[in-house]
Amino acid sequence: MIRPRRNRRTPAIRSLVRETALTPEDFILPMFLHEDDEDVPIASMPGVTRWSVKGLVEEAGKAHADGIPAVVLFPKIDDTLKSPSAEECSNSGGLVQRAIQELKAAHPTLCVITDVALDPYNSDGHDGLVTRGEHGEVIILNDATVEVLCEQALSHAKAGADVVAPSDMMDGRVAAIRETLDAEGFQDVSIMSYTAKYASALYGPFRGALDSVPQEGDKKTYQMDPANLREALRETELDEQEGADILMVKPAGMYLDVIAKVREHSRLPVAAYQVSGEYLMLKSAVAAGWIDEKAAVMESLLAIKRAGASMILTYFARQAVGWLKD
Ligand code: PBG
Repeated sequence: MIRPRRNRRTPAIRSLVRETALTPEDFILPMFLHEDDEDVPIASMPGVTRWSVKGLVEEAGKAHADGIPAVVLFPKIDDTLKSPSAEECSNSGGLVQRAIQELKAAHPTLCVITDVALDPYNSDGHDGLVTRGEHGEVIILNDATVEVLCEQALSHAKAGADVVAPSDMMDGRVAAIRETLDAEGFQDVSIMSYTAKYASALYGPFRGALDSVPQEGDKKTYQMDPANLREALRETELDEQEGADILMVKPAGMYLDVIAKVREHSRLPVAAYQVSGEYLMLKSAVAAGWIDEKAAVMESLLAIKRAGASMILTYFARQAVGWLKD
């Protein structure tokens, strides 16, 4: 008789037939930073810290020593530096730019990834530049935003970033950033594109962490409708043609079908972002005593990898690496 259970009989057999395994090299650690000497716990994201530049460099070093290859940086910008044109985003002496320099100086082998989008810098809280329509409605300017994003990406490359990651969802930004970087001698800086970034309810805690809630309107004219899968494949084709090196799907856990389809559709590596809301859903169930943290978190990460992600951005990166070593 055919008995699939034979392949599940002992831990040794199960380990031989296992199809997917997590390793520390799968993880990218998202890190928040601010212009302050203190490292502060983030109220909207228990267990996550907003680092000083010094604290960030130390913590990134520990993560890297543990086997995590990369970090991605998210700055909280002082209100006084925010403006409708978001010019602070490309300041060569700005918070992110200094953090990149210090990270690369202290940990040359760490892969430093930066977020390219205007929301932390824009007084409107949107990823793009805002203008008003006839009836006072918020309109996001695509092409003018792309020009600013190119400046931002270039300033990150000049500071030493290995990878720039545009998360803004403007059309044409990957090609424009690629062209700018190439023209300025940064042909070796990679682009990790947020290819399929959905207008999700799961980004709330992150916006709280950065104080980057849109002042008005929502992000539905640029982030994707959660109802759409074919559109993700269209974005995949465009990002490939425009020269992306890595594609990303975000959020991850509720979008495993999208990860799988993008994986099938493209030869490029696929990243997935387990976002702040996913993190908090797990953390709050753990805090309530309703699920086992290690088992549930590792299952969530394994599922994302099984769906086709080669790398996972997750706030659990350090804990997960600890559990892998247990
Ligand atoms: C904005 C950006 C967001 C996240 C990463 N980059 C929030 C948004 O689009 O509003 C969310 C990450 C998370 O929720 O963990 N450019």
